[in-house]
Amino acid sequence: MPEEVVQVEDLHVWFPLRRGLADILRRRPRRYVRAVDGVSLSLAEREVLCLVGESGCGKTTTGRALLGLVKATRGRILFKPSPRLAKIMEENGVSLENGYVDITRLRGRLRRAVRREIQMVQQDPYSSLNPRYTIRYTLEEPLIIHRIGDEETRLKKVREMLEAVKLVPADDFLDRYPHQLSGGQRQRVAIARAFILEPRLVVADEPVSMLDVSIRAEILELLLKLRNRYNTAILFITHDLAVARYICDRIAVMYLGRIVEIGPTDKVIEEPLHPYTRALVAAIPEPDPANRKKLRTIPIKGEVPSAVNIPAGCRFRPRCVAYDRHPEVRPRCEKEEPPLIDMGGGRRVACWLYA
Ligand SMILES: Nc1ncnc2c1ncn2[C@@H]1O[C@H](COP(=O)(O)OP(=O)(O)OP(=O)(O)O)[C@@H](O)[C@H]1O
Ligand SMILES: [Mg+2]
Repeated sequence: MPEEVVQVEDLHVWFPLRRGLADILRRRPRRYVRAVDGVSLSLAEREVLCLVGESGCGKTTTGRALLGLVKATRGRILFKPSPRLAKIMEENGVSLENGYVDITRLRGRLRRAVRREIQMVQQDPYSSLNPRYTIRYTLEEPLIIHRIGDEETRLKKVREMLEAVKLVPADDFLDRYPHQLSGGQRQRVAIARAFILEPRLVVADEPVSMLDVSIRAEILELLLKLRNRYNTAILFITHDLAVARYICDRIAVMYLGRIVEIGPTDKVIEEPLHPYTRALVAAIPEPDPANRKKLRTIPIKGEVPSAVNIPAGCRFRPRCVAYDRHPEVRPRCEKEEPPLIDMGGGRRVACWLYA
């Protein structure tokens, strides 16, 4: 078994809503957007785990919590640092627990030291690169920040990365600015920048959604190639199950801040268990008319509730078709939030139908 790079335990990220004067005078309790509301997951070395789910379900917020860009309200993020980083931790009085450190508790210098090993690729290659930096400086900057190498070795590394992402000959790209590249080329630069520090974990948030369909596969291949080269784990965020199927080892399906189903990609897509996953899978465009008819009706109803007023009991209940069809489980669905139930074969599903 490859070792786990990160273990997220019961992560909550709640954003407080602003209170008006009337709320304060009436002593109404503070209300929260419960963007991430109890997520547990882990990623092994080299593993690509997809986080799928519809807009607003908390995918980006989960990724940002891993990167330390938002504060965890509750829960732990246990990260296994490289030996080099582990040594820095210990020298600074942070003791590791079985080789893991809870990064939600780190601040300042140590938190920044962790950032060297957890990188990100964003959705929009137009806004993620600084327009005033040349490609050379864009790639060199992370090395400078983390005081890696001298000018000569850094330039060598920059060239190497440009070649790895197929921006060749590298010398033709070094002095260009982002506006002198195509969208696909910019995303290659963003990927090179994320991998130049040889991170242990990369959070890739919809990295191909804004790209032309014709180049998506190339960019996905590129991510896999770099994953292989550096043994990096990738948390791949997407709302597109077809992309997930292409790139992921496992899929975690999120709904309103929680994971409702997780398991090996093929199993989840071929035989989805949770009523929400079934609805997502049914929405994948199906080119074969013979298969199309069985997906005639999309088994979901209503709209996503707000993350401020999460329904009691099972949070998916108001939209759940199975709830209507299975009166025997209804009382449970109304009262208790289903935990992730182990279905064997690495699959877990949060639905009372399987209890
Ligand atoms: N900084 C913030 N302050 C307040 N609310 C926020 C903040 N960031 C995110 N949210 C809210 O948290 C919820 C989850 O947002 P998030 O961006 O994680 O969703 P997502 O799954 O990435 O959606 P999409 O697929 O549209 O990118 C949303 O309701 C969003 O409005
Ligand atoms: Mg998002």
